[in-house]
Amino acid sequence: MPKPLKKAVMPVAGLGTRFLPATKALAKEMLPIVDKPLIQYAVEEARAAGIEQFCFITGRGKTAIVEHFDVAFELERTLQERGKQAVLEELRAGAVEPGSISTVRQQVPLGLGHAIWCARTFIGDDPFAILLPDDLMQCEVSCTKQLADAYLETGGNVVAIEEVPRDKVNRYGVLDVLEDKGRLVSVKGLVEKPPVDKAPSNLTVIGRYVLMPEVIGHLAKMERGAGNEVQLTDGMAKLIGHQPFHGVRYEGRRFDCGDKAGFLEAQIAFALARPDLADAVRGFLPRYA
Ligand code: G1P
Repeated sequence: MPKPLKKAVMPVAGLGTRFLPATKALAKEMLPIVDKPLIQYAVEEARAAGIEQFCFITGRGKTAIVEHFDVAFELERTLQERGKQAVLEELRAGAVEPGSISTVRQQVPLGLGHAIWCARTFIGDDPFAILLPDDLMQCEVSCTKQLADAYLETGGNVVAIEEVPRDKVNRYGVLDVLEDKGRLVSVKGLVEKPPVDKAPSNLTVIGRYVLMPEVIGHLAKMERGAGNEVQLTDGMAKLIGHQPFHGVRYEGRRFDCGDKAGFLEAQIAFALARPDLADAVRGFLPRYA
């Protein structure tokens, strides 16, 4: 019986240079899609998978992220006094258990693998999920829950995957496929951001993972990979052959909110999914098409 999945790690130390000037004094993970910050979507997705403990890997200027998950006592009282029950309930629904959020600092930007290694004490000997908050998921069943189920089924490492056009594979971690069984794809290798003509497939890893704690030992070697960074993909690749490793074709859609066009598309998609906004958005959209 695999150990239960209760922990999630969320790297949030990135500078957000692609969204300057908005991110000059504001963490990019606090940028809202409609009315909720990206980081809250990630936390809610993880909670829907039964995750109870969260570790944010932060850096300078990111304190608002931690503040966001605190109870805003005065605000709640004011909302109560003004009879704003619906907003109050919405706020409370997004709250996490006291004591369930930890932070570690990355201090130096040496790559995603290094960021995850910074959470090693939080991870300990347990399996853990990773959610990259820039990747916003719109799924009927939480994408992390889909991975958690696949973890229980396979008893090992699982990463969410999708097919991308061949000429875009160089932006992602790419699977070298051992056997494609449809929903599950077993893996014989992983390559971070390969040149288009060297990529082993067009199946790419998106920002959702459930990994075994042994990956930390590989990351600790601090070997540099693509872009001279310590790559999570390289650490994961070292697990292959020693532990089960599968890609999971998740059901749903991903929006790359680290990219301006992806961020704007997410605004529209999430607004259209909201009963209070869908009509208004459908009304004005044709004016811009
Ligand atoms: C990271 C990972 C990459 C993965 C991608 C998904 O890249 O290194 O393997 O495919 O996230 O969004 P980044 O987008 O940080 O360059």
